[in-house]
Amino acid sequence: MRRKASAFLLAAGILFAISNPANATDLKGMHPIGNAIAVVNPSKPSNSVVIDCDDKSQVCLQVLAPDLVRVRASFQKSLPLHDHSWAIERADLAQLPTTVSETKDAIILETSALRIVVKLKPLLISFYDIQTGRLINADSLAMQFDPTSGAVAATKSLGAADAGGANGLEEHFYGLGEKAAHLDKLHQKFEMWSSDTPGYTLATDPIYQSIPFYIGLLTEPADTVSRISSTQNTPNVTKTVDALSPDKTRDLAYGMFFDNSFHTHFDMGSSDPKTVSFQSDGGEMNYYFFYGPSMKKVVTRYTELTGRMPLPPKWALGHQQSRWSYGSEQEVKEIVTRYRKDKIPLDVIHLDIDYMDDYRVFTFNHDRFPDPPGLMKWLADRGVKVVTIIDPGVKYEPGGSYKVFNEGTAKNYFLKQTNGEPYVGKVWPGESVFVDYTLPEAAKWWGDLHSSLLQAGVSGIWNDMNEPADFESRDGLKWKDVVNYDDGEHSKHAKMRNLFAMLECKATYEGLKRLRPNDRPYVITRSGFAGIQRYATMWTGDCNSTWDALALSIPMFETLGVCGEPFVGADCGGFLGQTNGELLTRWYQVGFLSPFFRNHHAKDNNYQEPWRFGQQYEDIIRKYVELRYRLLPHLYTVLAEAHETGVPWIRPLILEYQDDKNALNVDDEFMVGDELLCAPVLKAGATSRDVYLPAGEWYDYFTNEKYKGDQHVLVQAPLDKVPLFVKAGSVLPTGPVVDFIGQGSEQSSGQAAEQPVKFEIFPDNAGSATGHLYEDDGHTPAYLTGVCSHRTLKFTNGKLTSSSDKDNQETTVSDSLVVLHNSR
Ligand code: GLC
Repeated sequence: MRRKASAFLLAAGILFAISNPANATDLKGMHPIGNAIAVVNPSKPSNSVVIDCDDKSQVCLQVLAPDLVRVRASFQKSLPLHDHSWAIERADLAQLPTTVSETKDAIILETSALRIVVKLKPLLISFYDIQTGRLINADSLAMQFDPTSGAVAATKSLGAADAGGANGLEEHFYGLGEKAAHLDKLHQKFEMWSSDTPGYTLATDPIYQSIPFYIGLLTEPADTVSRISSTQNTPNVTKTVDALSPDKTRDLAYGMFFDNSFHTHFDMGSSDPKTVSFQSDGGEMNYYFFYGPSMKKVVTRYTELTGRMPLPPKWALGHQQSRWSYGSEQEVKEIVTRYRKDKIPLDVIHLDIDYMDDYRVFTFNHDRFPDPPGLMKWLADRGVKVVTIIDPGVKYEPGGSYKVFNEGTAKNYFLKQTNGEPYVGKVWPGESVFVDYTLPEAAKWWGDLHSSLLQAGVSGIWNDMNEPADFESRDGLKWKDVVNYDDGEHSKHAKMRNLFAMLECKATYEGLKRLRPNDRPYVITRSGFAGIQRYATMWTGDCNSTWDALALSIPMFETLGVCGEPFVGADCGGFLGQTNGELLTRWYQVGFLSPFFRNHHAKDNNYQEPWRFGQQYEDIIRKYVELRYRLLPHLYTVLAEAHETGVPWIRPLILEYQDDKNALNVDDEFMVGDELLCAPVLKAGATSRDVYLPAGEWYDYFTNEKYKGDQHVLVQAPLDKVPLFVKAGSVLPTGPVVDFIGQGSEQSSGQAAEQPVKFEIFPDNAGSATGHLYEDDGHTPAYLTGVCSHRTLKFTNGKLTSSSDKDNQETTVSDSLVVLHNSR
């Protein structure tokens, strides 16, 4: 194994020399779509129109909500009748009355939020705010295609300039999923081609996940507002000087989701500072345009379309420990014993690949793990859950006795190539085959295979290597003739690669749900596509044990959050290389606020559990793990908000302060909900840092020192302190420090702990504060049918009241549960 591990670490080093993703097709060589000549079904009102073009192309515009329009184009042929997407959860959004009108130059659709103008010659689509008449987004070129390669492209003006390039604003870009990049994606290029990229660094692209969704934020100086509103109106729009939008953001956000799973390319003003283009090597031109104008509204609508994260079991919010690998039952017990002895809370231990028999999925190595149910019972008695890794590669063993391989082969569930032969790749077990998760019966079979793990006492599943990783074809080229059933389309890898992980996680999630209907499934994934949040939480793969990697994790979390994935985390301490006490400690000062909070490290000689670098570091790490547990009522409330609205747990400042120019690219700080702001130390040896505090007033969480916002402040941050601020006017629900979530309630109903929640009050200048508390049983799906409680907390005149959203009854909270932070 040591030999295999070194091969892996070596592969990490040479990775970028061998991965050679295809380049985007040159836009200049592509054909524009023909001119529009007729509207096929202009029934009024209708929620969609189909437009015929003079080259036999067709374009469909479908209004799914007043602020959501789908654009679908087919080049030199009619739109196909088959219309299926793995990303979309809700295709049945309301059929909305939409007014369709035609002029001699254009077709115009109007909703209560948008005016969509389709100019006929050339065919150019523009989106306007219906109330202010402001241009939000416009094609700068007609949509394009390449008849030889099948590539399709859309090109938009950067900064909502009109087709002539006039009146553009400044524009910033957020999103594109898991990218090793800063928060603002302006002037950069990105690709979507899910890739196994151990040791990635800033600018490695693509990496594991493929989420072809971004948010554009148009920013303008206040004094240009009236100029823009009076010059960018479409014909017949009532001009308005008050260009402030209905939800009162001055800077306007829109979303763009290119629902195409082929290898895609996004050029955010990199090749041409005046345009943004997105293109794909194949498949349909099929995108969704969302209008905010607030970023939060875009995220909410995007997650309505692609689905929101179901709540995981509450214990998944606990501290988790992992290593590649804890190689024996004895070692696992030693680790947990030490955790309990040192009084560091711990909820989960992960079993990496070495728990298996020669990496055969759904088996245990009985030499090193002789009694899995016994081990899991021993761990459960100490409040620790087990998550096991499951990779998609199934050991290829013709003629052997490996049940999973034999059954999958007999039932024809493994992916085959066009020549009818199974595709055999190389992963941890050596030669491996992979399931076609698009086959409904194969997906069910895979899900059901988890029953053996659940019976042994496993609580969650970690789906790794699902780009899919293949040591002999990291770029997936050898997979090119692999065919998936794909809803009867029999699609090749070019379309299916980016979807593979989501389909695996779907099979896993649905399997766990079937097998244990009364427990919430907990699945962790490395790769994914838009919509992955419906099935799995995620972590950011094989990051380095470096300060740069720690810093990079923050824009990655923030970006994933605005792309609908709220439950994210990085390997605390870093995965590859050697961490040290200081780096591990600072990493915990980020990790304790990240949703997925797991210490994990690669197979080499270094161990990085909290006690490995001496007492000084261990004591500080314990303090932050304890703070995580104290903050759980607040964190769980924030997570429930993400489940209900899509607005993430970790938020870039710009999401909360959309009109604040200073917040546009702040990505060395983050917010948790709208109350907490964390500005971690991200440099070796630093004991202070500059912090930008947005408008308002802020408390230092630890000292109660009060700061005015809208300014940069220099904050002292010795090793035991992370600069953590609470917005004045907040109520933070907090709980007790426990060894594990639910401690104390094990004997009763099996429900989450009924420990008293205390309320920390950070009053504003008027002495008031507000907050929220969400609670449910913490482990069953009952919350989905309303078995949960939302309370609004209000602090005025020295009294805290709580009212439930069910009956609005206000009760006074006992003073014994109130902790008042008086500012210094
Ligand atoms: C991959 C995973 C890593 C895991 C290792 C062995 O590199 O990203 O987390 O420990 O495989 O399973």
